[in-house]
Amino acid sequence: MKGIVLAGGRGTRMYPSTLTTSKQLLAVYDKPMIYHPLSVLMLAGIREILVISTPESIVALRALLKDGAHLGLDITYAVQDEPRGIAESFVIGADHIGDSPVALILGDNVFHGAGFPKILRTARDELDGCTLFGYPVSDPERYGIGETDAQGNLVSLEEKPLKPRSDNAITGLYFYESDVVEIARDLTPSERGELEITDVNQVYLKNGRARLIRLGRGHTWLDAGTHESLLDASQYVHVIEKRQGVRVACVEEIALRMGYIDADHCYELGTRMRNSEYGQYLMQVAQTIA
Ligand code: DAU
Repeated sequence: MKGIVLAGGRGTRMYPSTLTTSKQLLAVYDKPMIYHPLSVLMLAGIREILVISTPESIVALRALLKDGAHLGLDITYAVQDEPRGIAESFVIGADHIGDSPVALILGDNVFHGAGFPKILRTARDELDGCTLFGYPVSDPERYGIGETDAQGNLVSLEEKPLKPRSDNAITGLYFYESDVVEIARDLTPSERGELEITDVNQVYLKNGRARLIRLGRGHTWLDAGTHESLLDASQYVHVIEKRQGVRVACVEEIALRMGYIDADHCYELGTRMRNSEYGQYLMQVAQTIA
């Protein structure tokens, strides 16, 4: 399976903080926001990852993540010059996807929870059409919403409905078979001129090939795309890290635990940041696992 992180958009909701930097590079407490979606793909066992962003932001994202080799990944980059919709990712990423299934994750989505890596790998192995991940929210009118029947089967999908039929938000993590490229190419742009991800999902739903995995109380999902939600995400990460003494979305540690890099290399990555607690943590994790 290939991966795509969509990290574009103008970030206007976060002006002036995003006037000169990309939203996905802002810190969620102790690390860049994009480490979170990147971690999710890594935990799903995905190593070939395309990062899509604006012409301005792609430069800084590339400086941060490079070609991914230091994490045992293969990271490439593509530009979306205007925010023409989340589903444009599949048109831009068509060559990257080729004949493989693909996971798309939005660059401002933060996931955390017990057993989440296992859920990801099972969803990946059992993919048949499209798999969406649902999460109960108190403000469903702000999201794509999925309604399920008594058996948990997806029966309807709506984008930001005024009167939501359910509180089950569709998160910004999506798994598809490679036919998603053709489906995205055939879409008609919406009234706001975008290729809508919900329209892609509607095609799979209509064909009986859309599945919803509901993430429940044991999980946390936040989109850190506003000042308040970024603060919430930062506080969440801070509390977990302080209390448990572990790091959330530490991409070097995940690379080590997934077997993408060895302990010596992880230690070396830590030494490059040894003045920070993050660097110290990497050195310590590498020594524990070696
Ligand atoms: O976060 C989950 C929600 O994401 C879903 O529930 C919705 O169904 C889905 O449409 C989306 O809603 P948003 O209102 O969050 O979409 P937004 O247009 O803000 O875009 C989400 C992220 O994707 C944002 O960080 C910017 C980036 N983006 C968006 C568009 C439209 C791009 O990089 N390029 C784009 O063309």
